[in-house]
Amino acid sequence: MNETATFDRDRNSAATHPKFLSVWDIQAYYGESYIVQGVSFDIHEGEILALLGRNGAGKTSTLRTIARLDNPALRHGEIWLDHKPLHKMKAHEAASNGIALVPEDRRIIPGLTVEENLQLAQIAPPVGWSLERIYGLFPRLKERRKQEGVTLSGGEQQMLAIARALARDIKVLLLDEPYEGLAPVIVQEIAKTLNIIRDQGITTIIVEQNAVAALKLADRAVILDTGSVVYDGSAQEVLEDEALRQRYLAI
Ligand SMILES: Nc1ncnc2c1ncn2[C@@H]1O[C@H](COP(=O)(O)OP(=O)(O)O)[C@@H](O)[C@H]1O
Ligand SMILES: [Mg+2]
Repeated sequence: MNETATFDRDRNSAATHPKFLSVWDIQAYYGESYIVQGVSFDIHEGEILALLGRNGAGKTSTLRTIARLDNPALRHGEIWLDHKPLHKMKAHEAASNGIALVPEDRRIIPGLTVEENLQLAQIAPPVGWSLERIYGLFPRLKERRKQEGVTLSGGEQQMLAIARALARDIKVLLLDEPYEGLAPVIVQEIAKTLNIIRDQGITTIIVEQNAVAALKLADRAVILDTGSVVYDGSAQEVLEDEALRQRYLAI
């Protein structure tokens, strides 16, 4: 086990040893509330990282900070993606540099068909996967391409939300609780798809309450507790360490 309560960073700045995505000592606030309290981790290209922790641990806030949304506000730290300083960017710049956040509520646009939801994502460069390639990965979306997006099942809406991210030219996919409310068989189907997406070179951070499903998918795990990293190591180790799971994940 690689406990990080006493985790000593071996460097002063992420810029000195940039991994593909490097998050270094980020501290972020909602107003005066100090929420993301110095989070650091690195991801290699093509890795899947499970970002776990109890409700309120700061997982969504960490994803939002990486995507450079205004809230919570980043006041300290660095975020490097492929040698680019995301911490200096606004959300739209982070997006055009390859960050895609799929939020918990999926944000399918009402009044648009599946295909129109995808086309809208491609309206401005940089365009990512073609519709043909997306439909190859998600045959269910192809079958339903003329259907209004919001009338899809929960699992199909999640697929559409992921597909819409791929329709842009992205490097990193940030998934906030993609399995929420989905039946185990659909979770498995989405996990299979995320594996294929990984094989095509996309780097993924998955936040999940269904920690076991996320750990089975992920290469590595980072566990947060009250806005700080308490574990950074292999996903398999977390699956095998019951005491660690009970302590930080309550499972
Ligand atoms: N918009 C907000 N304004 C103020 N506090 C917030 C806001 N969103 C979340 N928080 C607080 O930040 C903490 C972390 O929340 P969040 O990142 O959503 O956790 P998680 O996703 O791990 O459940 C919680 O204490 C939560 O109450
Ligand atoms: Mg959350």
